[in-house]
Amino acid sequence: MHTPGRWLRTGIALALATAGAAGHAASIKISCGSVGQELDLCKRSAEAWAKQTGHQVQVVATPNDASERLALYQQVLGAGSDKIDVFQIDVVWPGLLANHLQDLKPASRGAEAQHFPAFVANNTVAGRLVAMPWFVNAGLLFYRKDLLDKHKLAVPSTWTELTTSARRIQDAERAAGNDRMWGYVWQGRAYEGLTCNALEWSVSHGGGSIVESDGRISARNPKLADALKTAAGWVGSISPTAVLNYAEEESRGVFQAGNAVFMRNWPYAWSLAQADGSTIKGKVGIAPLPAGPGGKPTATLGGESLAVSKYSRNAALATELVLYMTSAAVQKERALTGSFNPTRPALYQDAEVLKANPFMGDLVGAFTSAVARPTAATGSQYNKVSNEFWNATHDVLAGSAKPDEALAKLESNLKRASRGGRWN
Ligand code: GLC
Repeated sequence: MHTPGRWLRTGIALALATAGAAGHAASIKISCGSVGQELDLCKRSAEAWAKQTGHQVQVVATPNDASERLALYQQVLGAGSDKIDVFQIDVVWPGLLANHLQDLKPASRGAEAQHFPAFVANNTVAGRLVAMPWFVNAGLLFYRKDLLDKHKLAVPSTWTELTTSARRIQDAERAAGNDRMWGYVWQGRAYEGLTCNALEWSVSHGGGSIVESDGRISARNPKLADALKTAAGWVGSISPTAVLNYAEEESRGVFQAGNAVFMRNWPYAWSLAQADGSTIKGKVGIAPLPAGPGGKPTATLGGESLAVSKYSRNAALATELVLYMTSAAVQKERALTGSFNPTRPALYQDAEVLKANPFMGDLVGAFTSAVARPTAATGSQYNKVSNEFWNATHDVLAGSAKPDEALAKLESNLKRASRGGRWN
């Protein structure tokens, strides 16, 4: 479509490309997530790079719902657009987006060797390093220490304990006048974040990963059905019904306002809970998520990387920006101000990082044993698999399907989409 806007944009892009080629200042467009402090911190370091190098940066905000962000990226990249040079990509996307991304290895000067090897392996598709690791995520249980102390309850280590304690404290606090108090907030919207929560419920009950590492589809099983039944029981009881539309920031909003006893979230929520002026400053603890019957405490592995578009007109410069943003200095600053877990093992020996974020030392096991979503087996089909899983889960949470029915349907949808019931 040749709209005036399109011509204008093409004109600008050409002008920038020419400026870059002639060695003048170029403008690099970087797209970052916008959960919590993500956008602010991205802007701050990108601008610091621009100042140091004499180039310019434009930070493009994206939706804070991971699945909406993916849809936007697929649209931009699918059109071969040069609108965005650098993309913040989710740990589950390299297999989906690899064909549109540059191989960073030729220009990385070996920087990847300083990051967690498993993350580098995750970002390597058909021998090409399509993104540089930026921060690691694992699902964590945030709890109100003050409320557990007041009600003489321990940090829950099973889902049953969590459910009972959440109920007790919620009831007591409401009776004492805080009628907005909830027991447990988490991410129940139909999107990628629900896949992360539901995978934790499943594996912590011994119910598997929907598709196993050998490609076998395992969705239809009684342990996962039990896990979903437990979670559905929270909705409207210890969790507001609105949790069915909560992503990370909606759940944090309730917890940050002092209106929830427990919250499942990623590490970024720590720096905000502890910020000056926060209602819950000094009142929050972090623990591993609880275990189910016969299962173990489980965290879903998350995280983000930075990638350079194949369609960038300033790929060399964009790669320099990525190397700067993922450097030890910037990752340390992001850990100190934003509690983003570094992807560089060396920073876990840094006293300042550990002091600002005690959980990074104390809960190292939650990160090292975190469970990956089934991307390795499903490759470019991962988003479809995840979409089926979060929809099935959402149906159960919303009460529109029974766990067994939803899982039977999920299993047959996945079988139909795969090669004869397996994924590789
Ligand atoms: C965080 C994680 C990412 C996950 C998403 C789900 O952004 O880094 O891996 O997919 O949350 O909402």
